[in-house]
Amino acid sequence: MECSSFGKCGSCALWQMPYKKQLEMKKKRLEEMFSEFNVPEIEVISGSDEHFRSRAEFRVWHEDDRSYYAMRKRKEEGRGVIPIDECKIVDKAIYNVMEPLLREITKNKALRFKLYEIDFLSNSKGELIVTLIYHKKVDESIEGEIKRLKEKFPFIDFVVRKKGRKFVFDKNYLIDELDIDGKVYKYKIIENTFSQPNREINKKMIGWALRNSASLKGDLVELYCGNGNFTIPLSENFNKVIATEINPESIQAATFNAEINKRDNISFMAMSAAEFSSLKSNGFFRGYDLKNVLIDPPRAGLDEKTRKFVNEFDNIIYISCNPETLKRDLETLSKGREIKAFAFFDQFPYTNHMECGVVLERVK
Ligand SMILES: C[S@@+](CC[C@H](N)C(=O)[O-])C[C@H]1O[C@@H](n2cnc3c(N)ncnc32)[C@H](O)[C@@H]1O
Repeated sequence: MECSSFGKCGSCALWQMPYKKQLEMKKKRLEEMFSEFNVPEIEVISGSDEHFRSRAEFRVWHEDDRSYYAMRKRKEEGRGVIPIDECKIVDKAIYNVMEPLLREITKNKALRFKLYEIDFLSNSKGELIVTLIYHKKVDESIEGEIKRLKEKFPFIDFVVRKKGRKFVFDKNYLIDELDIDGKVYKYKIIENTFSQPNREINKKMIGWALRNSASLKGDLVELYCGNGNFTIPLSENFNKVIATEINPESIQAATFNAEINKRDNISFMAMSAAEFSSLKSNGFFRGYDLKNVLIDPPRAGLDEKTRKFVNEFDNIIYISCNPETLKRDLETLSKGREIKAFAFFDQFPYTNHMECGVVLERVK
């Protein structure tokens, strides 16, 4: 990939390294990090190295009568942000609209004044949610300005945010369609809730989880389920599924997603993983055949209570966006279990971030 912001923008730290080299370097790094565990050959799952992000956040930089998108500087250049000319990692729908949208906003005093950040979320049809975040008082009077903007960009829904206040024109969600190994699943994705950033790799991650759970029997517990991204397809491999997540809006989307995909064997619950883990002592799981758990925690990994709960399951599928906390958690979870599969999903080309998937099975 070539990008005119390479070397300026702090997001693509590996801008000088050819993509194939990045994959080799990251695989080697993971092999070294996890060398103390008995890990099988790491499967490298990669995709396109440009136009792969379906969500992105940019600061806005104002200078005289011009406004620019801005990103944080490269570490070597110190703190702060710098204006960028383009961003090649965002998908085509976002890439194509960035410049004309900012041009229109710049022409309009009310929309431009104290505009601090612009966030983009796209679906596979090229529809977008654009969130405008302000550092000023915003009230209902912004509606007229957004309506005029919407005439120029009818495929965009806008959300306007200012600390504590939110205005939505006309909706704050998208419906995305993911084709996973020939079967299409529909997902409602709500603005400002978690969604996997790289659509192509996300499809491959779900396919990997489906294949690695195909021979498991019984029911499934899922923690950190988000909008049901893994839950909906994986529910086809199990009798019953209980899936939980801390964000009520994500659970609302997940419940909707189960309905539109006609899955009727899933119960969703909005609660923290630690709270859910403590339900075990109340006999909450009577009637469930609990051998299998899927976890996809945030970067902090598992808290102590949750790790203890997860450690009671025979079969664990662990999706992780942070190898450091994955390693810490595997120190507990790998005891008495075999690591059956280890995958590296390259969700974040040109950065040092690594997403992994690990399948563990209790040794009988
Ligand atoms: C990496 S995301 C994964 C979401 C989902 N599995 C997916 O693939 O889209 C982690 C999710 O954990 C949720 N979360 C964060 N802290 C949590 C906690 N303490 N308990 C339960 N869920 C939490 C977040 O809201 C987020 O949806």
